[in-house]
Amino acid sequence: MKLFKDYGPGVGLRSKHIQHFLKEIPASVKWMEAVTENYLSWENGFQVKALQSLEKLSSQVPIALHGVSMNIGSADALDINYLKRLKDLKNIIKPILISDHLCWTGVNQENLHDLMPVPFTSKNLKYLMDRIKKIQDILGERIAIENVSSYFEYSISEMTEWEFISELLQKADCGLLLDVNNVYVSSINHNFNPQRFLLSLPKNRIAQIHLAGHAVKEGYLIDTHSTPVCKEVWDLFEWTVQNLGSYSSMIERDSNIPDWEELEKEVLKIDEIQRKYNERTQRPTGQLTTGDQTQA
Ligand SMILES: [Fe+2]
Repeated sequence: MKLFKDYGPGVGLRSKHIQHFLKEIPASVKWMEAVTENYLSWENGFQVKALQSLEKLSSQVPIALHGVSMNIGSADALDINYLKRLKDLKNIIKPILISDHLCWTGVNQENLHDLMPVPFTSKNLKYLMDRIKKIQDILGERIAIENVSSYFEYSISEMTEWEFISELLQKADCGLLLDVNNVYVSSINHNFNPQRFLLSLPKNRIAQIHLAGHAVKEGYLIDTHSTPVCKEVWDLFEWTVQNLGSYSSMIERDSNIPDWEELEKEVLKIDEIQRKYNERTQRPTGQLTTGDQTQA
């Protein structure tokens, strides 16, 4: 039984396109993902103007909130103040999903401004399970955690990333924000089979899919979100849809952001791939299959 609804193709909401979307939501876009921190002020609660725009959009299109500040994998205590403000934002926007990353972003109150991978040990599994459960208790809902791209591995890891993630999703009773580009990037950097990663995941816990572009630097792939999605990642996405099913899927673009007409071509490509799957399985995009449930 799937735990999250499939909303179809979506896009990451970026300031370059907000005015365009406020005039009219493109028919190709069935939902949007907003970056949580863009709507929370670190000093005084909310960023009022930005929040007004998001509130208006949320009345017209489903919105997911995606953050970078939960610092789930850190040795630091959870930032309860951040989580409370996130809950306040949730109560205003009523998002279809709240997500963050399976990573640590700082320690001793220092922010690295980077998404650092976590060690895949049984001790860390228990540690992260407890933290995710506490986060979900505070927010009052099941969250999704995203697999990150990585450029190094820990010698203390006791299992593969996919074994670790699959067990954590079950133990913490949370969802997965599956970034297919991140799976591809890490598979090249660490020489594993990305399909093996994907096939091991509990399908019912996939909440959402990210697609993005990356860069090549000194033999490593770097997750930059600065280029269009490459052919290899589109192929892996299509394979994912055909083998794991259709999930809310979106384009993440954070730099070199093109005009909407250009970016929309990638959103339409998601639609094309999902349609092929839905025609094969005769399930219309954006509707629940029998037995599906959504928390949103
Ligand atoms: Fe992502």
